[in-house]
Amino acid sequence: MNDTTGPGDAVLRAIRTRRVVRAMTVEPVDRRQLEAVLDSARYAPHAGNRRLHRYVAVTRPALLRALRMVSPGMLQRPRAAIVVCVDWARVESYGFGPANPGAYIDVGTAAATMLLAAHSIGLGAGPVTSFSRAAVGTLLNLSEGLRPELIICLGHPDRQQQPPMRRRGGQAWADLIQWERG
Ligand SMILES: Cc1cc2nc3c(=O)[nH]c(=O)nc-3n(C[C@H](O)[C@H](O)[C@H](O)COP(=O)(O)O)c2cc1C
Repeated sequence: MNDTTGPGDAVLRAIRTRRVVRAMTVEPVDRRQLEAVLDSARYAPHAGNRRLHRYVAVTRPALLRALRMVSPGMLQRPRAAIVVCVDWARVESYGFGPANPGAYIDVGTAAATMLLAAHSIGLGAGPVTSFSRAAVGTLLNLSEGLRPELIICLGHPDRQQQPPMRRRGGQAWADLIQWERG
């Protein structure tokens, strides 16, 4: 690919250098950094601009440990976590049927935005979807209708244990693209 970007293009650089971080140091996550990541979620595009998601911020070590115990996919020991929940009661009240993928797609746009935001301020982050929805809902004492759908783990990357940057999936972007048929 021709590199059409200048050296100052911070967003593209962040996109290209972000990796899932699974090895984290014991250093706590600064409250303002956590708030910056949380704030970034509201800039993500949402279906119908409905904002049917809620974000539960977790920093208490005992609760983080409990989250790990019910999350087989949580390979990191995070210092903070953001649990992205869908308010399914409101989804239904807006007339979105169960087959409408908007709420799930919004979980993805919010997660991608928060992962990039974390990376841009030097935090390590990793998404987790392999966890017990029921157990996490109970641990967080979630209100009726809210269901946890994705957890963003946050912490300071342990640079010694982070695997080296590799080409994504061994594929060039052109391998994944089909141009429109003329
Ligand atoms: C929807 C979704 C669910 C994921 N669930 C997990 C998970 O449960 N545990 C985990 O370690 N990584 C999880 N990941 C991270 C992917 O494994 C990771 O993004 C992929 O291997 C590519 O790595 P990279 O983001 O560093 O390029 C998930 C990613 C997505 C998009």
